[in-house]
Amino acid sequence: MRSHALAALLALLAVPAALAADGFQRPANGDCIALSTGSDVALFPEQYMMVGDEQAKDGFVTQVNSSRGFSVQYFPSYKVVTNSIAGETYVLSQCGAQVPPASQFPEGTKFFTVPLVSLSAPETVPYAFVDFLGLTDRVHDVSPFVSAPCGQALLECPGGDSRISPDAMQLTNGTYLEAAVGATTDGLMATSALPDYPESFAVSAAQDPGVLNRAEWVKFVGLFFNQERAASDIFAAIKAEYEATKASATSGAAKKPVVAWASHFAYPGMSENYGISFAEYKKEFTQDAGGAMLDREAVSGIKGVQAIDTAAEFLTFTWDGSEGSFPTQAEAKAAFLEALKKADVIIDETYAENPTTYDSAALLKDWGLTEAEAATLPAWANKKVFRPDGLLSLQRVPDFTDPSKTVDQYGSDWFEGAIARPGKVLKDIVRAVQGQGQGFTWVRNLFTEQPVVTDGKTCNAAQPCAAQPRTICPFVKECPVGQAPALLMSSSNSCTYAECGKASALEQPADGSSSSLPTNAAAMAAPAIVLTLIVVAFVEVLMHFC
Ligand SMILES: *[C@@H]1O[C@H](CO)[C@@H](O)[C@H](O)[C@H]1NC(C)=O
Ligand SMILES: *[C@@H]1O[C@H](CO)[C@@H](O)[C@H](O)[C@H]1NC(C)=O
Repeated sequence: MRSHALAALLALLAVPAALAADGFQRPANGDCIALSTGSDVALFPEQYMMVGDEQAKDGFVTQVNSSRGFSVQYFPSYKVVTNSIAGETYVLSQCGAQVPPASQFPEGTKFFTVPLVSLSAPETVPYAFVDFLGLTDRVHDVSPFVSAPCGQALLECPGGDSRISPDAMQLTNGTYLEAAVGATTDGLMATSALPDYPESFAVSAAQDPGVLNRAEWVKFVGLFFNQERAASDIFAAIKAEYEATKASATSGAAKKPVVAWASHFAYPGMSENYGISFAEYKKEFTQDAGGAMLDREAVSGIKGVQAIDTAAEFLTFTWDGSEGSFPTQAEAKAAFLEALKKADVIIDETYAENPTTYDSAALLKDWGLTEAEAATLPAWANKKVFRPDGLLSLQRVPDFTDPSKTVDQYGSDWFEGAIARPGKVLKDIVRAVQGQGQGFTWVRNLFTEQPVVTDGKTCNAAQPCAAQPRTICPFVKECPVGQAPALLMSSSNSCTYAECGKASALEQPADGSSSSLPTNAAAMAAPAIVLTLIVVAFVEVLMHFC
């Protein structure tokens, strides 16, 4: 399967005219380094490495660990990336350099040539990271639930059907994946390990409990595109934004408003229930917004309330006849309302097929409440009920039951972009909890605000369907024997490198400040230019998202 992909790549290298074919459009091979035989040039200079909590150097190997879940070890021409949540190891070789022999690595190790050119992104959660890094021109196919405008634009490309990713069932079938996306993509990004498909890698952001830890997975995605340094800077900005918002939201000593994350669940064949979530990340958002969670102990102590998951993060009020459940719906509902009376703010997470018509009347109907029952809840009386479905996408897809018809299918950015941008989410929660701030991104007021539905028209990429992605320049260029490799200076139009033998940028400290004496202007200029590029990219990101 891997050899199939390599064969496709080699064919393209040999016949550039074939580049117009679907997938594998490495931009005139500009991503790849040209090395002389036997070269031992280090291809990942420190300036471009991932920034993490822990960094250690052992001979020529540098290891960087993130706060949770993943780490990278840099070797001269490849990097070894470990995802400890999914239990997988990936060897990422720089395009143009030799791939190390598989026998050096444990069985099950997966091999990629980076930067990836053509990505299959069948799940929405990690798509936001690719969008964030400005790599949407390297995405071949996406989930039909994608919310990001450029993701939606892909679905509208000519031959749009080929841009719809494999679905959840198909993701478990390696043979199917090889046939469906193997020839057009060189990486498939999923949310869990797919052992049957060697070209897949797992982004475990949603399994990471902390809100900042989740966002930090942008660095992990960056590794597959040689964008880990840019990703590290984006993460630093997100973290700073989060911490600033938290500091101002939690500075007052005033009484903390109590928040309940509540829902009603009904689906044919499954037991109906009311529920209150105490998920770690919701707790973190609530507390960091200056609020307090409903008292979990008090709720779990109510007779009839059950915890369904092992972490006891979700407490249900059900009446399905199982041992310990409520005898009737009326009793379950009464206990649920009693618990919610202690909340100043309710965040309603009830699933809605069409969130655009889900208003306060729809909630009453869904939850089975009368206006009078609802009015006993302070959050309802004070119009402080919110929903996290404020940013949606809409796809018109063929109806399963009758293919001659179409159905509207909404995707929610709460399960996509929100995971990548906790600083912005926190602003929404502060607004809900404390009534401060204007406008929302995801968390809308049920009584007064409507969801925003985005479409592909707002994609700001020049040509979302174009076949050729922009080049991702190698970080260094090989120089004549005895001279240090030249460091990348600019990648805006073409790849420009410092002059051979002059700029010893590789010896500069990673932060760009110079403690060693620079020998000439070029040596001084190189890190400054790199820094400028990073700052520009970073400001663009802020302008776009904050
Ligand atoms: C990173 O994590 C790995 C696995 O937990 C550990 O063996 C290694 O020592 C850590 N590296 C650093 C630099 O702390
Ligand atoms: C996997 O996909 C292949 C190719 O589409 C199909 O022939 C096979 O039956 C599938 N296997 C399973 C277990 O569904």
